[in-house]
Amino acid sequence: MFKTAITEMYGIEYPIIQGGLMWLAKAELAVATAEAGGIGFMTALTHDKPEGLRDEIRKVKDQTDKPFGINLTFLPSLRPPDFPAYVGVCIDEGVKFIETAGRSPEEFMPTLNDAGIKVIHKCTSIRHALKAQKIGCAAVSIDGFECAGHPGEDDITSLILIPLAKDALDIPVVASGGFGDGRGLVAALALGADGMNMGTRFVATKECPIHENVKQAIVNASERDTRLLMRSLRNTARFLVNDNAEKVLEIEARGETTIDDIKEFMSGVKGKDMRDNGDMDSGVFSAGQVVGLIRSVPSVQELFDEIVGEARELLTQRLPNIVQDEVTA
Ligand SMILES: Cc1cc2nc3c(=O)[nH]c(=O)nc-3n(C[C@H](O)[C@H](O)[C@H](O)COP(=O)(O)O)c2cc1C
Repeated sequence: MFKTAITEMYGIEYPIIQGGLMWLAKAELAVATAEAGGIGFMTALTHDKPEGLRDEIRKVKDQTDKPFGINLTFLPSLRPPDFPAYVGVCIDEGVKFIETAGRSPEEFMPTLNDAGIKVIHKCTSIRHALKAQKIGCAAVSIDGFECAGHPGEDDITSLILIPLAKDALDIPVVASGGFGDGRGLVAALALGADGMNMGTRFVATKECPIHENVKQAIVNASERDTRLLMRSLRNTARFLVNDNAEKVLEIEARGETTIDDIKEFMSGVKGKDMRDNGDMDSGVFSAGQVVGLIRSVPSVQELFDEIVGEARELLTQRLPNIVQDEVTA
């Protein structure tokens, strides 16, 4: 068991968090993560109707008494989802923890606070972390430039953002983006974080509901195999390289790109073909630079055993042995 402000806040054994994963973070991962001693956040928008989220929450409650949470991602959309209805389901079902991402969760904070739900806001800059603290978030998760999905437009790595966040904030900080093993966990703690959030690493686990080909593509990828797309739209996101990712970059390089120019290569429908049928040339797939560190597809329990074992060894053996102060008589 490890003890940090994050293990205390969530009532978990290890400060290890499975962040929201669109289409993938469902009951199976949340239960496996809870049982292994961490906390997993199920993405609300994986369900096109709030009632789908309710069913998924009930599946988790049927299988574990341990903590879990829900991810609410507020991204720009032509047809915005019915967020109040998703929030309503979380409240009805007694959800205690929510991870928000994208736009500020400010408009929902009074409702969530009244319901006693603790919010961790995931963001990519110190200014947004300060705002999250101001509006009443219980913690922040800081996604460095290495991360899968949306790293923002500032390109600042976790190594810089985490200590800056620690210095700037009074609430607990979780390090996210580029973390995948016990070394990462110890580094996150050393940088001042109270926990570590992972996305890509959880995709390459036995419980993640995605085709084996995607897991193997992550295992085979090197740290150089991700690409930043939609930079020209100021909506940058990091994906695993494939022909579609290269095609999008080619179109963006021509200038004056609109979402219509690239959407056929990035569509969720094609992505479904990759997720369900393993067609790696269909759509694009979010992944972080940490793919370079991922070499296996363990169960979530095996992953926790590895990470915790490695972190424990570092904290109790390797690092203490580095200090060679002379003992004075
Ligand atoms: C396949 C995939 C889907 C993701 N979907 C979401 C999402 O819907 N909402 C969200 O807040 N973060 C999402 N993320 C980001 C993760 O929660 C996490 O912040 C990020 O992966 C951390 O970086 P890492 O991949 O280096 O661990 C996604 C990540 C991946 C790999």
